[in-house]
Amino acid sequence: MKMSRQKILALMYDFYNENTLKGQNDDIPYYIEQIKKYNAKKILVVGAGTGRVAIPLANYAEVTALDFDSSRLEILLERNPQIKTINANFLEFETSEHYDLIIIPYSTLQFANDTSNPNRFLEHLRKAMDTDSLAIFDVSESFNTKPNCDRKLLFTNYCETVDDDVSVYYSSKRYDEYIAFVIEYQLQKHKKTFLEKEKYYYYDPKLLTKLIGENALELIKIDNGYGKPGFNHKHLYHCRRKL
Ligand SMILES: C[S@@+](CC[C@H](N)C(=O)[O-])C[C@H]1O[C@@H](n2cnc3c(N)ncnc32)[C@H](O)[C@@H]1O
Repeated sequence: MKMSRQKILALMYDFYNENTLKGQNDDIPYYIEQIKKYNAKKILVVGAGTGRVAIPLANYAEVTALDFDSSRLEILLERNPQIKTINANFLEFETSEHYDLIIIPYSTLQFANDTSNPNRFLEHLRKAMDTDSLAIFDVSESFNTKPNCDRKLLFTNYCETVDDDVSVYYSSKRYDEYIAFVIEYQLQKHKKTFLEKEKYYYYDPKLLTKLIGENALELIKIDNGYGKPGFNHKHLYHCRRKL
């Protein structure tokens, strides 16, 4: 296989989503509704990945897609070369651009690594906003109750982009502040295994409200779910920047 490990993991990320996402894609019509409601013309999608949300939104506004994973952005650009991309860590991001709406979809604000936590995300969200910007971030309560899980096979399916049958294994381990996942991709014909490790902070509404205030953001409202039945464990925070 001639592809880099990072490229294969980006393809696996897509493959995993294709096979597992169900109601999550209901966030797309939800965001389209918000674009119309707030009359947003210029949008920044933070943690855009391979474009699941950014690409459909580009039919409604000018979208800039930001992610620190360059291989995921490469896939996004193969799908829609018109979208402006920024390959950067949002926690180091600076901009003089004005965005009407900044969207942080699919629990990206809860993404945990050695340097990121919701407070740092909010700190940098404020920096990317001006007083006319609005931000919506989607946080999930589901991490709070997901149990520890020993390695188990989730599914095996053919993946066209790597032309192979891929077996996907999953394990999770709970810690005090976050849950850690390991997703293992076994490419049968290529006899290769790739691991994706991710951690997500638990959802703590009191703490989040406190951090919003401490970062001089104003909470406008919280929508629970995407406006369709189910997914009430998802919370959509709408914020403005205080003067
Ligand atoms: C859960 S995925 C969401 C991807 C896509 N928006 C979607 O909804 O399918 C989170 C994305 O955020 C990116 N990400 C996490 N922390 C980031 C940071 N500090 N700066 C830039 N990108 C980040 C990851 O690389 C990943 O692609």
